[in-house]
Amino acid sequence: MLVILKRDSHEIYEQAAQLIASAIKKKPALTLGLATGSTMVGVYEHLVRLHKTSSVDFSQVVTFNLDEYLGLSASHPQSFHYFMHENFFRHTNVQPENIHIPDGSIRGNYDQYCASYEQAIRAAGGIDLQLLGIGRNGHIGFNEPTSSLASRTRLKVLSRETLHDNAKFFGPREESPVCAITMGIGTILEARTILLLATGDSKATAVAKSIEGPVSSAVSASALQLHPDVTFLLDEPAASQLTQRDYYQRVLQMTVLLTPDRLS
Ligand code: GLP
Repeated sequence: MLVILKRDSHEIYEQAAQLIASAIKKKPALTLGLATGSTMVGVYEHLVRLHKTSSVDFSQVVTFNLDEYLGLSASHPQSFHYFMHENFFRHTNVQPENIHIPDGSIRGNYDQYCASYEQAIRAAGGIDLQLLGIGRNGHIGFNEPTSSLASRTRLKVLSRETLHDNAKFFGPREESPVCAITMGIGTILEARTILLLATGDSKATAVAKSIEGPVSSAVSASALQLHPDVTFLLDEPAASQLTQRDYYQRVLQMTVLLTPDRLS
């Protein structure tokens, strides 16, 4: 596990975009796992900029989003479909047929639908690089606390904390979704490389538990300790509860020295 500490969120967005861009340069037909949330907006901004300056070409990239709210159509402004198109896809040359986002408008046959999403990931050769944010409660995707660490794509009931965090995005008379379709923790752990971004002090507890706490279904992101190639990109506030920051800095220095490919 590599923990990269940056001064502020802008450096994180830039570095994440650079890592994604260089992965695409190495493998133009990269299968990219994508995430939503405010943390990702800056990453997509940088990626769009890199695309517009011809530094990155998405024409062969295949994307799979982590999750989507159940009950929201693709045109709903709070849907992750809408988020992805507004913040990323419509500004790039990702081919529409290469975009996969769980369909939040399905009614019934959920298991069958989720199995078909897993099958599509397998058919694409598996996810090469998975981008992740983290919830205040340590969730990744919408794998809420107590999610099985072996879980696959499925329907998930949102936790009280997540419902509270989401309420501000929906109008006063609008009911916010109570369920989502999300890749499972087992699905995420099969990605070859994982990049998790966290900014701000509201994420500090979840980040510390994920990196330094025990592996536990109570903190979904702690399952990333089981993965051989994970990078955490953190700003100062998000890293503030970590106890071994100087060690992570030394690991990073040695990584730059000995295995610079890991970071390019
Ligand atoms: C939602 C998404 C997660 C994301 C989280 C954090 O819950 N399902 O994938 O990591 O939001 O969002 P933000 O970056 O806005 O804090």
